[in-house]
Amino acid sequence: MNQPRRVENLHTDKGKVPVYATGVVEQPWADYSAVDHDVWRRLYERQRQILVGRASDEFLIAQDAMGMTPDRIPKFDDLNQALRAATGWELIGVEGLLPELDFFDHLANRRFPVTWWIRKPEQIDYIEEPDLFHDLFGHVPLLINPLFADYMQAYGRGGVKAHGIGPEALVNLTRLYWYTVEFGLIKQKEGLRIYGSGIVSSKGESIHCLESAAPNRIGFDLERIMRTRYRIDTYQKTYFVIDSFEQLIEATEPDFTPIYARLAAQDSYPAGTVLDADQVYHRGSGEGWAGDGDV
Ligand code: PHE
Ligand code: FE
Repeated sequence: MNQPRRVENLHTDKGKVPVYATGVVEQPWADYSAVDHDVWRRLYERQRQILVGRASDEFLIAQDAMGMTPDRIPKFDDLNQALRAATGWELIGVEGLLPELDFFDHLANRRFPVTWWIRKPEQIDYIEEPDLFHDLFGHVPLLINPLFADYMQAYGRGGVKAHGIGPEALVNLTRLYWYTVEFGLIKQKEGLRIYGSGIVSSKGESIHCLESAAPNRIGFDLERIMRTRYRIDTYQKTYFVIDSFEQLIEATEPDFTPIYARLAAQDSYPAGTVLDADQVYHRGSGEGWAGDGDV
């Protein structure tokens, strides 16, 4: 990547860090407090315990390979050495969510934006915006897996393309991200397992997605997913299950342009719908579902 140009010092409630033209910031590692490191340690240790027997082998193996440890917040530079050598991915620090096109462009170039700040102790169980724990613990490990690394880059390229097609195409593509990268389940010999970052970084949802009777668990189907609305303020009503990362890559390889065109004429499905054509692993009881609020 070109050397980012420093444009200003942004003052936010998250702290004061140099912000560059591309939205990239340098991880202010020396400025993390003992409380910050302790939040990381508590979350890390708690999730690693919960994820045994729940996260996919791919995820757990990747996380070990990354060399993250609970004792302190990792340095992006250290993780980058492992990542660059394995798959050519690189982490860049950001202040928060980026404009969509910037985000896609980073992914298309194998750069993964990671929020540099970590949540406060009182936000251990829930935080609305992605923070360092979600990004680093949840998203980064699988970037060291060659198949998933390719999928993420392909997604970024697809995002740049969808952005040029229009807002409806972007809605379809975003649903795919949501139901795979963020909330995906994968079938293993021993049963269903988690690979989605939004789940692995959440204690409550790690248990809910596999063990609760409430949500649907349905086989991956690209166009079905692209038509399905989702939840941003509650646990998902539906999780989609892939057989393997190979399946995910193969299914998403074709040009989406004609798919977007076809879907533009069709209605979306509510988040909790089960269709006759679905491959149903579990039909959700719907217990506790909020009546509205699908996005
Ligand atoms: N094949 C998709 C397209 O043509 C790109 C893509 C790949 C999107 C993988 C998401 C995931 O737009
Ligand atoms: Fe995320």
